[in-house]
Amino acid sequence: MHILAIGGSNSANSINRQLAQFAASLFDNSTVTIYNLSKIDIPLFSVQLESEINIHPAAIDFANEIDQADLIVISLAENNGSYNAGFKNLIDWTSRISDRKVWNNKSMLLMATSPGARGGATVLETAASYFPRMGADLKGIFSLPKFHETFDPIEGIVDQELLQTLSVIVEKINVN
Ligand SMILES: Cc1cc2nc3c(=O)[nH]c(=O)nc-3n(C[C@H](O)[C@H](O)[C@H](O)COP(=O)(O)O)c2cc1C
Repeated sequence: MHILAIGGSNSANSINRQLAQFAASLFDNSTVTIYNLSKIDIPLFSVQLESEINIHPAAIDFANEIDQADLIVISLAENNGSYNAGFKNLIDWTSRISDRKVWNNKSMLLMATSPGARGGATVLETAASYFPRMGADLKGIFSLPKFHETFDPIEGIVDQELLQTLSVIVEKINVN
């Protein structure tokens, strides 16, 4: 199985990319591509710019990465209760590729994390209700609260209850 692990943030040190990478590592017999949005140079979408340049090549590359994956493991940053602007911009560009649903009917493990106690619950709710309309086949949803207490950069999730919750979700996806 090939996994595309995405941090839904354009932060260079994204905690969501760290979580996505860790969650992807829990799957058996898999190859993983990490998508690092902080390295993607893409202008702010507008219909005027689109009429000048058509689809930005970075969005086409992102769509190709999605198409090559069997499973998308994504963790969303929450900024003011919504998507990180850099992530939303990439999605807007990608959604303009003709005849495309952004997630192209791919299986998805959808997550969010934040330093706070709600663990990105608001953006997670938004995505859980809207991503299926964009062609995501949601196989599991997980929130990691209090990232800096529950996650170690080397060990991964150190809260045993939360690790168990995620492991059960991963196991279910593994066997299907
Ligand atoms: C502009 C801004 C808005 C934020 N809004 C929220 C928020 O609504 N909810 C939340 O839990 N954390 C919020 N945070 C804190 C982020 O969760 C934190 O910066 C986290 O590291 C973002 O994930 P990332 O590292 O993957 O970008 C906000 C941070 C910034 C810079």
